Amino acid sequence: MTPPVSLTRYLIEEQRAGRINADLRLLIEVVARACKSISIAVGKGALGGVLGDAGSGGRASINIQGEAQKKLDVLSNEILLEANAWGGHLAALASEEMDVSLPISDDYPRGNYLLLFDPLDGSSNIDVNVSVGTIFSVLRCPEGVSEPRDEHFLQPGTAQVAAGYCVYGPSTMLVLTVGNGTHAFTLDREIGSFVLTARGMRIPEETREFAVNMSNQRFWEPPMQAYVGDLLAGKDGPRGKDFNMRWVASMVADVHRILTRGGIFSYPLDSKCAAKGGKLRLMYEANPMAFLVEQAGGAASTGRQRMLEVQPTGLHQRVPVFLGSRQEVEAAVRYHREHD
Ligand code: AHG
Ligand code: MN
Ligand code: MN
Ligand code: MN
Repeated sequence: MTPPVSLTRYLIEEQRAGRINADLRLLIEVVARACKSISIAVGKGALGGVLGDAGSGGRASINIQGEAQKKLDVLSNEILLEANAWGGHLAALASEEMDVSLPISDDYPRGNYLLLFDPLDGSSNIDVNVSVGTIFSVLRCPEGVSEPRDEHFLQPGTAQVAAGYCVYGPSTMLVLTVGNGTHAFTLDREIGSFVLTARGMRIPEETREFAVNMSNQRFWEPPMQAYVGDLLAGKDGPRGKDFNMRWVASMVADVHRILTRGGIFSYPLDSKCAAKGGKLRLMYEANPMAFLVEQAGGAASTGRQRMLEVQPTGLHQRVPVFLGSRQEVEAAVRYHREHD
């Protein structure tokens, strides 16, 4: 029986093939190791004193998103910052949980990469024991930049050199792309390493399953009203087939299901979030997920533009998101073109 391929072996093979260098390999190994620590903390649940809101003295800790932080939001952020502080592979980091980006301390050498992350995605699910995750994206630090600042992170999604997520579910899985396909690694808790369990994930072109928070329906724009109205009309409607719906409210869990069996995920503009540009964040949610999905043969759009081609204007910029099975995303984009 051939021995299982570990994440380390996969990355060494990508380096040997010239698709990544030693610094990027170290970066991904460090992030994976941090995700193992987060998985352990998440797994302890009520026994680890990590549930509930952060903050003290009865006052919630509010992040730059305007959200009340969970203890695990803060702990996961700290784990990722500490893991990446000293390796010499990074120039700076940015996080959903930090107002501005953070250059690597002068105590350590700086590398050529920028790391962005959503340390804990799906925070509203932590206290009810539903799958959550970590999302990350890697960019190159622009040539000649010795003091990286927020504006150096504002690169379109096509500039990503790696992206991935770790989903803390019944099993802990790391899903990764370095631009050569999307691959899944399952954490073997007995030996403590990620093992390749799905090489070359492919999203079915068509689907009968959509993921959206239906409670926002009355706030949607006309194209989204028309699109979902036709999905709900089923086989007697214009789409000629019945659809199923799933909504976990952890983007990582919904995207993992779509990468595994197909589907379309959408968080469209609605009148509640339109002023902010949408609900989900471009730099550390939509772009890394779009890279993974496209590398698996799917598509990702704002409804009006390919996600990876959006020119960012802010570190915490929000965008409408449609991603998943290519033909279904194209259908949703058509509704936006025809109903705008
Ligand atoms: P986060 O927990 O990192 O702030 O992200 C939550 C996001 C995303 O994971 C999920 O798809 C979406 O919020 C759910 O939004 P609703 O609660 O409005 O359904
Ligand atoms: Mn998130
Ligand atoms: Mn988060
Ligand atoms: Mn959040």
